[in-house]
Amino acid sequence: MLQGKTVVLGVSGGIAVYKAVELLRLLIKAQAEVHVVMTKNACEFVTPLTFQTLSHNPVHTELFDLYQEQEIGHISLADRADLFLIVPATANLIGKIANGLADDLLSTSLMATKAPVLICPAMNTNMYEDQRYQRNHQQLLADGFHLLEPISGDLACGWQGKGKLPDPQQIFAAACNLLVPGDLSGVRLLVTAGPTREELDPVRYLSNYSSGKMGYAIARSAAARGADVTLISGPVALSEPGGVTTLQVTSALQMQQALAERFDSSDVVIKAAAVADYRPLHKAQQKIKKSAEEFCLQLEKNPDLLAELGKRKKKQILVGFAAETENLLENAATKIKMKNLDMIVANDVTAEGAGFGSETNLVNFLFADGRQEALPLLSKAKVAETLLDRVRELLDKPKH
Ligand code: PMT
Repeated sequence: MLQGKTVVLGVSGGIAVYKAVELLRLLIKAQAEVHVVMTKNACEFVTPLTFQTLSHNPVHTELFDLYQEQEIGHISLADRADLFLIVPATANLIGKIANGLADDLLSTSLMATKAPVLICPAMNTNMYEDQRYQRNHQQLLADGFHLLEPISGDLACGWQGKGKLPDPQQIFAAACNLLVPGDLSGVRLLVTAGPTREELDPVRYLSNYSSGKMGYAIARSAAARGADVTLISGPVALSEPGGVTTLQVTSALQMQQALAERFDSSDVVIKAAAVADYRPLHKAQQKIKKSAEEFCLQLEKNPDLLAELGKRKKKQILVGFAAETENLLENAATKIKMKNLDMIVANDVTAEGAGFGSETNLVNFLFADGRQEALPLLSKAKVAETLLDRVRELLDKPKH
């Protein structure tokens, strides 16, 4: 896949260095030629010998090393790169790049390169949120560097929060996109995932069993194919996909607002979220006390977010999901018309291994022109891949 491509892998010193080793393995497996440049601090975490053994090339560590300069100088390293990757990128290194400093082999080679540069920051969450770091981060974006956002999760320092290096697979996918543009490159794609929660009182809510797995699989797969992905997620227990802008919402009304703000600047919208159809008419300010034998809850209708988008739609490809427990195809066909969709993914959520929470899904695709396609039981990742293949076809179809 990457045969004939040369990647310079810059490694700076953080605990996430071990993930750079795995990334190197993926690059080599894809037949890229990889040259590794390590900072002094990176060598404290993993020895150059590990990278040398896996890359089959000498590892570069010193700016003023006569032997290394004779073998392949830092300018030549910068020149021959088709892609310059920095994994992990520490706050210190990012500060240096943002301010035009070049005082070691890695920062010097980086300044000398004309290749696209993908920087993958990883650090403690407080450092990541620090305004000085954020200023440098914004500067790199303004300077045209590609940045893969860190994800949220348990950090090596014991903290929880944003700052974790995405999985090597995700970095590899982002790197591939820059080396070999994906088929969704340039497509702005909005995905919704997960349930909504409708608050009843300060300790209770109405919701459903959506885990977000289906929507997250779509977001991940679309990003890997080069799309510019925004994921609007209800509350789920999944980590945010790398390379995707993720917006967290709780209620249907919050999701409505997030969608409204981004709809006009999207090319494709895929609504895999399980939005609550109703919300409590009144939210109790205090915990509702148990008293009477029967308790009557008054609900009011939530807006149908997808139907609203269907009315507003201009050039967008609009894809809905239908979670059905009976009359699957008939109900889905009705929704495609009522909501002015280009395509709907009909989900029999009573089938074994399908629907809410499972790793797999059993779906039928229905299109606005009446075509139908039944898929076998597949992993949600594979359903996402096939769905995006169809979206690509819809994008390619001439518009009347
Ligand atoms: O999250 P997982 O555990 O992986 O499960 C995946 C899934 C079962 C949630 C997913 O595959 C799925 O079927 N999602 C749609 C669930 C749903 O709300 O279906 P629906 O038939 O009620 O709604 C039809 C469409 O209208 C959906 O695209 C929904 O997002 C949208 N809708 C519904 C109600 C509402 N008020 N506003 C909406 O936009």
